[in-house]
Amino acid sequence: MPGRVEGKVALVTGAASGIGEACATLLAREGASVVVTDIRQEAGRGVADAISAAGGTADFLLLDVTDEAAWTTTIGDVRRRQGRLDILVNNAGFGIASAIVDFPLEDWRRQTAVVYDGPFLGMKHAIPLMREGGGGSIVNISSANAFLPVAMMPGYSAAKAALSNLTKSVAQQCGAARDGIRCNAVLPGMIDTPMHAPDRRGAAMAERAAANVPLGLKGEPIDVAYGVLWLASEEARYVTGAEIPIDGGFTTRFLPMPPAA
Ligand SMILES: NC(=O)c1ccc[n+]([C@@H]2O[C@H](COP(=O)([O-])OP(=O)(O)OC[C@H]3O[C@@H](n4cnc5c(N)ncnc54)[C@H](O)[C@@H]3O)[C@@H](O)[C@H]2O)c1
Repeated sequence: MPGRVEGKVALVTGAASGIGEACATLLAREGASVVVTDIRQEAGRGVADAISAAGGTADFLLLDVTDEAAWTTTIGDVRRRQGRLDILVNNAGFGIASAIVDFPLEDWRRQTAVVYDGPFLGMKHAIPLMREGGGGSIVNISSANAFLPVAMMPGYSAAKAALSNLTKSVAQQCGAARDGIRCNAVLPGMIDTPMHAPDRRGAAMAERAAANVPLGLKGEPIDVAYGVLWLASEEARYVTGAEIPIDGGFTTRFLPMPPAA
């Protein structure tokens, strides 16, 4: 039986671990040829090798999503090697926890560059190649914090909310252009990934928040990947400009106020 994205070419950013790795692996399992990209070369190559070892098709390309010249090179490589691009998953991201009054501007800009500028650059450079192939599906990995901002993640919450509006504007532009490109966002809640590893700032906060999730537990990267797979596939051909929470119900309720910073 053909896979749900059989024959398509997919590029996933930040695919060396967590949600990006799960998306790359699942898209490959469902028949896509996957371009695994990340700033972590060894780990990213490991993901591509694991996909290939399991019988899938994957290449690794080093890509810092904040670097416009690198996007030009990457999309050029995809055009040369694969000849088309059908699926773009803008996944790379991280969150910095800080009180607003202590937030170093450098950290603020570093986070915004990855979470918000990265998807902008990805769409800017991928859309022309998608159009050459007659269409495609863009999935931006936003966050439940786009709906429900959290006190100690002001820059992250703001950048993810901005990504939601960017997603909708691009969906409208592509729709108006009748170019066959759909653009949607997935909003994960608490997902068990290295982003919440105990040595990262914000991990304790994430543990507290997980206890407030209606389903009572964190999700797994594969839970997000299944949503991405659906949006990437023809099953979602009438879906664009949507924000889909995959969060165990997290955004259906308000969190208790944290202690003052
Ligand atoms: N884990 C969660 O609970 C959660 C919740 C909501 C949203 N998200 C979002 O999901 C996405 C993936 O997060 P994750 O939890 O899998 O984290 P993760 O740390 O496992 O993966 C993030 C990946 O992004 C890569 N990366 C960082 N900066 C990069 C850059 N400049 N260019 C390219 N790659 C870069 C990292 O090397 C890493 O492999 C992020 O956008 C994150 O904001 C995660």
